[in-house]
Order: sequence, then structure tokens, then C-alpha cells
Amino acid sequence: MSDLNNMTDWEKLRALVSDSKLENKSRTVDEKLLLNHLKSRIKGQDEIVSDVARLIRLSWEKQERTRPICSLLLLGPTGTGKTEMAKALAEYLYGSEKDMLRFDCSELSSPDMAKSRLTGSSSGYKDSESGGQLTRPIMANPRRLILFDEVEKAHPLVFDLLLQLLGDGRLTEQSTGKTADFTQTIVVLTSNAIAEEAAKATQGMTDYREILNAIKTLLSEGGTFRPEVMGRIDKVYLFKPLSGMIVAEIALLKIARLGKEYGMTVEFVAPELLLQALEANLKVSRFGIRELERILFDFFAEQLVTMREKKVKAVSFRLGPDGKIVCYPAGQQDSAQAGK
Ligand SMILES: Nc1ncnc2c1ncn2[C@@H]1O[C@H](COP(=O)(O)OP(=O)(O)OP(=O)(O)O)[C@@H](O)[C@H]1O
Ligand SMILES: [Mg+2]
Repeated sequence: MSDLNNMTDWEKLRALVSDSKLENKSRTVDEKLLLNHLKSRIKGQDEIVSDVARLIRLSWEKQERTRPICSLLLLGPTGTGKTEMAKALAEYLYGSEKDMLRFDCSELSSPDMAKSRLTGSSSGYKDSESGGQLTRPIMANPRRLILFDEVEKAHPLVFDLLLQLLGDGRLTEQSTGKTADFTQTIVVLTSNAIAEEAAKATQGMTDYREILNAIKTLLSEGGTFRPEVMGRIDKVYLFKPLSGMIVAEIALLKIARLGKEYGMTVEFVAPELLLQALEANLKVSRFGIRELERILFDFFAEQLVTMREKKVKAVSFRLGPDGKIVCYPAGQQDSAQAGK
């Protein structure tokens, strides 16, 4: 077998392909479709979702770019949809949430880790030729969303690299001299560290600019986000805590998804059952909705499997006379009830 690595000049080929018609690089984003997609996955954060869709449409259309398409800082309590937003954007804009590059910044808290993970080990070190886990995937496919979770835990060196990435749209691996181009990426930073302080500091404020200024001051006072880093971030959003009804809606979304995983549509879930699940969630979960998925699985998976074995394609969950869950093939319980 030939060695593909040496069979052509890959860097040149990549540049040629990305400039040619081969690469499907649509210059427009349909804001309405993007908005619908985001709304189908993220509940209770409507203002943020609308603003993000608009921002992306406007940024996506720029002909010449020397920086990432846009950079967002998502703040807010745990389990409110920050990572979900990054996934939903990656899925819609780049075709798959699997292509998203995700870095847990708590793993980038030492300078050595930060550098070797992001742009590769220094020359002479083991693995220095294999490059960084940020730079290499971008060289291979520059159309990606990059997510830095818990960004406040990152070592200051990460912020130095971020400054370059956000400012020049490029990062060079020191050991190999190869450069990754970030001008087709979207960069998302998330943090829940200052959520409570931010909520307090902005209480009662309604004007977005006023809220933003208060948050920016808070962030730079904390020392994590240096003013020059803040200056390069296009937009900061503060995610809201989720209310009971929104959590119920998310539960329905998750039940629908669970059904789909078993190849079934879930047509109806009795409100009493949803309430039972939400109450069970409240008991075990200190952190809002982190446990919700597992609880819904415990509640509904068994019945879904039974129905699947009977080759049923659509189901309804109703409340049985003993207060327990009863699962019917959709449509059937209606005639059963009519016969009562
Ligand atoms: N607003 C929301 N709409 C729909 N689903 C949500 C929302 N918030 C959270 N979820 C669900 O809860 C789970 C956790 O949410 P997510 O990962 O987005 O939390 P997060 O805000 O990133 O929290 P953390 O700060 O702890 O990382 C996801 O599986 C997601 O499906
Ligand atoms: Mg998250």
C-alpha cells in the first residue's frame, strides 16, 4: 500500500479544496431555520436563542474574515442549556455535534497541560510531532465549533492562546511550525462559576447593555477574564435558572428522544406521570436537571422495551388505576377509554 501521507502535498491540497467549489461553503444561514432548530433543543432561554441566531446570520455572511465567525461567552447556573446550545449550533451549522471540539478547562489548569493539549508538546518531547488536540483537528477540518467548558479554571496561558485565536484567527504549533486557521470556526466559552454573583449584580436590570456592562465589570474584577480577552469576545449571555414548567417541557423532550432511541414515537404522557418524574428528580438532584435523564430512563425504558418487542411503533403513557405507569400502543387506550 502506498503511504497516503506522502502521496501529495496535503497542506496545499487542503488549501485548494477549501477554496474550490468542492467544499460546500454556503455564505448564508437561514435565521428562521436556525432559530427553529435552536428552539427545538433549548427551552426557557428564548431571548438568548433569538439573539444568537441573528448574530450568527450576520457574522456568517462576511466575505473576508481574519477572526473566528463569532465568539460567545455563555454564563449561568449548571444545567441551564449552555453546553446544549453549543451542541445545537454545531449540529445545525456544521452538520454534526460530533465534530465539535470540546475542552474541559479544569484539565488545562497547568501551563504544561494547556500547551501540550492545545498546540502540542515542545520540540524534543515525546509526541511533539503529533501536534495539538486543538490545532490538528482544525487543520484537518477547519469548519468546527470549539467549546471551552468551565473556562474560569483554565491556566492564564490558555487565555494567551485564546487571545491569539480570537484576535488573529490563527495558532501556530511551536514544535512543528504548522499553523491552524480558525476563521471558519465558532468559539464558545462557558462558565457557571460566577453565575450567582452575576445574577445578583444584574437583579432588576432590564436593559441588555446595562446587564452586559455589569457582568463585564464583575468578570474583569475577578481577574480571570482580562479586559483584552473580554474585548475579543463578541457576545456574553447569562442563562436563566429554569422554572418548573420549562423543566417539564424538557422532560417531554427527553422522553420523546428516549422513545426515538427505541424506534418509537411517544404520542402522549399523562401530566401526573411527568409530575412524578419531576418530583423524583427534585429529590435526588441538587443540580436542577442533571439527573433527569436517568430518572426518565428508570420510569419509561422498561415499558418502551416491552412495546418494542411487540413491534409497536407509537405509544402513550397513561396513569393506571394504582397510580402506576401504563403504556399503550397509541390510539388503543382511546378506544379502551371510550369503551369504559
Ligand atoms: N434550557 C434547556 N433546554 C433544554 N434542555 C436543557 C436545557 N438546559 C439543560 N438541558 C438539558 O440538561 C442537560 C444538561 O444541560 P447542559 O449540559 O446544557 O448544562 P450546562 O448549562 O452546560 O451546565 P454546566 O454549567 O454544568 O456545564 C442536557 O442534557 C440538556 O439536554
Ligand atoms: Mg456545560
